[in-house]
Amino acid sequence: MQKIIIAIDGFSSCGKSTLAKQLAKELKYIYADSGAMYRAVTLYFLRNSIPLSNKKEIKNALSDICLEFVLDADAGKSILYLNDENVELLIRDMIINEKVSEVAAIKEVREFAVAQQQKSGEKKGIVMDGRDIGTTVFPNAELKIFMTADIAVRVERRFKELYEVNKTITIEEVKQNLEMRDYMDSNRKISPLRQAKDAIVLDNSNLTMAQQLKIALLWVHEKINELK
Ligand code: DC
Repeated sequence: MQKIIIAIDGFSSCGKSTLAKQLAKELKYIYADSGAMYRAVTLYFLRNSIPLSNKKEIKNALSDICLEFVLDADAGKSILYLNDENVELLIRDMIINEKVSEVAAIKEVREFAVAQQQKSGEKKGIVMDGRDIGTTVFPNAELKIFMTADIAVRVERRFKELYEVNKTITIEEVKQNLEMRDYMDSNRKISPLRQAKDAIVLDNSNLTMAQQLKIALLWVHEKINELK
């Protein structure tokens, strides 16, 4: 079957990565979490106290960063390595949530991440989720999905995830962080979060995981049939 590129964009905690992983598993495609790359760069900048206003230091720091997704066959998912260190858990921390939108708005950081993302899509057969995948990274992606869900549903989902690792977290903190990130991601100068003109909207506020997968798979097969 012909392989395509599937771009999934949307606000924070809409379930983009869940759908992307489901599709990748079902279609035997690669799953690429572009947000994880911005998170890992943020972790590196925080650890090394890189001033976000100093372009020269940012460029130097980026030249020292090597990001690699390694497939963990047992867990059935890709693990992100930052300079050979597994940073999967660290990059989901609230400290990273608070800084990542600021780091992701930096031109040099975006160029660094987008170049790697585009390279990983050269052979197609990839599902990538993020904020600018359908508009900037893969403007020619065969299928673009723009995901959305009610804010209350999104807060609840992210709270459950974060509460697993941090029992002191509150719903209000999670809500404020989501709203702040959505605002910054949608209002930054370079490739802000936008629905691509040719994207299909998927609102999963009231959908189960099985239902959203069924809908998206239908779209995939329609696209592949159109290409024949
Ligand atoms: O999807 P996520 O929550 O892990 O993404 C973390 C942050 O990275 C998000 O607040 C915005 C940024 N991001 C981005 O600017 N462009 C992308 N393609 C993916 C994420």
